[in-house]
Amino acid sequence: MSVQKEIKRVTTKTLLEMKQRNEKISMLTAYDFSMARMVDAGGVDVILVGDSASNVMAGHETTLPITLDQMIYHASSVIRGAHRALVVVDLPFGSYQGNSKEALTSAIRVMKETGAHAIKLEGGEEVVESVKRILSAGVPVMGHLGLTPQSIYKFGTYVVRAKEEEEANKLIHDAHLLEQAGCFAIVLEKVPAKLAERVAAELTIPIIGIGAGGGVDGQVLVLHDMLGINTEFKPRFLRKYLNLHEQIVGAIEKYVVDVKSKDFPNDKESY
Ligand code: KIV
Repeated sequence: MSVQKEIKRVTTKTLLEMKQRNEKISMLTAYDFSMARMVDAGGVDVILVGDSASNVMAGHETTLPITLDQMIYHASSVIRGAHRALVVVDLPFGSYQGNSKEALTSAIRVMKETGAHAIKLEGGEEVVESVKRILSAGVPVMGHLGLTPQSIYKFGTYVVRAKEEEEANKLIHDAHLLEQAGCFAIVLEKVPAKLAERVAAELTIPIIGIGAGGGVDGQVLVLHDMLGINTEFKPRFLRKYLNLHEQIVGAIEKYVVDVKSKDFPNDKESY
């Protein structure tokens, strides 16, 4: 008789306990079933269905064009491949900034139509009312501060955020507000390591960094960047674990040669 190995799902409570026992949290993005299955098998704690899908899946320059329907399509594919990881879905630009009712409606669509476990949204004080309203419906919320790509046209650049005291103080203030509002974790993107470490020390909820140094409670990267599928994006914070672009293009070139030379298919590959 084969014994089914029980897989225990990571929950928001698991993440809090990890922070309490000083165990770092691993988070990666995924946008489809096959990749999500591999990310989950690799033991990642949190899978983020990021609106970076707009860049790496759809080829847009920014995260702004992706729609709620498209995010729901990606998230429902990911959830079918993720058996252990907590799956968090980005609310895309334009689906929550209007008011808290719009934010709640978008969050409920994501939860109902994808089976995901939580949502993420960008911003501090200006989204606190929405965070509270979404939470009142029982939907866990992850915050996102620092470089918030949905506001790229306001910033005008992707440089490190909160280097100046005024912006750093606002970030700390916003982080506390998000924690008080009930966020279960916050992503801190591209901010000085010292500032990120301070936020992680002051808050009881986990702080997940991307370009925020090692003093936070966990790390997140965009899957296509760390696998080297994307070759153009080379920020200092990115560690590349593979050079898949080169490997995949090489395999495809070999296939083309095999077809043209009539090497493929051979007798064994034919009926
Ligand atoms: O959309 C995304 O991939 C993200 C990560 C960069 C945190 O928000």
